[in-house]
Amino acid sequence: MRKTILTGDRPTGPLHLGHYVGSLRQRVALQREHDTYVLIADLQALTDHFDEPEMVRDHVVEVALDYLAAGIDPAVATIVVQSRVPELAELTVYFLNLVTVARLQRNPTVKDEMRQKGFEADVPAGFLVYPVSQAADIAAFKAHLVPVGEDQLPMIEVAAEIVRRFNRIYGTTLVEPEALLGAVSRLPGTDGEAKMGKTLGNVINLSDPPDVVAARVRGMFTDPRHLRVEDPGTVEGNPVFAYLDAFDPDAAEVERLKQRYRTGGLGDTVVKRRLLEVLEALLEPIRRRRAEWERDRGAVEGILREGTARGRAAAAATLGEVRRAMRLYGAGPDA
Ligand code: TRP
Repeated sequence: MRKTILTGDRPTGPLHLGHYVGSLRQRVALQREHDTYVLIADLQALTDHFDEPEMVRDHVVEVALDYLAAGIDPAVATIVVQSRVPELAELTVYFLNLVTVARLQRNPTVKDEMRQKGFEADVPAGFLVYPVSQAADIAAFKAHLVPVGEDQLPMIEVAAEIVRRFNRIYGTTLVEPEALLGAVSRLPGTDGEAKMGKTLGNVINLSDPPDVVAARVRGMFTDPRHLRVEDPGTVEGNPVFAYLDAFDPDAAEVERLKQRYRTGGLGDTVVKRRLLEVLEALLEPIRRRRAEWERDRGAVEGILREGTARGRAAAAATLGEVRRAMRLYGAGPDA
């Protein structure tokens, strides 16, 4: 049986290399062998950007451009705009009964985000429950597999729990999802910090021009004790090597570079030059495809319209089953 995969991104800014290794690369690799849905999660984006609705709206097309540039093929994958599928909001309401507030408060990713956003004292209800809406996204499309980065594992766990509860109480209707981690599930920022972010200025965007990428690589944090070329250097926790591990197709060459770096005699500039080559080999075709789609924004809008219509039909079919399973008034003969 063909399996269904679903993933999503919040349209709040350009997609970066962290998105690429965490999930986007896998979606592109899997899209032909699976029924693939890619969700532009604008409702989820509003849970922490409700006061910037134009920003969220304008990023919907930008994220779609990033998808197309990165190799999502609209002929095989379905790109869906979340807010245009009201069935997702409906399923969220049913799911909210199946999870406790205490369970949601224990979610480590949500906890981190609450700290960052200063939501600890007074969290908006919508933000606390966004993992429930994400569970609804996954369940509505009957996704078996969710290719994600490590930070999203708690979300998939909650989703699987909710689905199990739903099936136990109302009868088996929904598919229990599984996370699919990439080979690299976590990429550090260019400053070596675990958390990447647009406002932290430590990301390389898929749409960044060559001079910006070069400057970011040049400014990358390395081993602060590796002062002279002859000095032995540390590879662990050194983001330049983390990026080489993630992007250099020649793993044997990366191993050789690591050896030389550890013993001393390999300068940071040489390693960074290699990394820049590797990144440009990846980003150059992405940039080129993006430029092509940018010239035809009408076509991009068309892809979003068609994808959303197809996605909505799939979600509506699931919601019909859900309403019948829940014995909702008027849901059908077997209710
Ligand atoms: N929470 C995800 C992120 O922060 C985005 C997302 C929304 C998602 N809905 C999803 C991911 C469904 C996987 C499946 O990037």
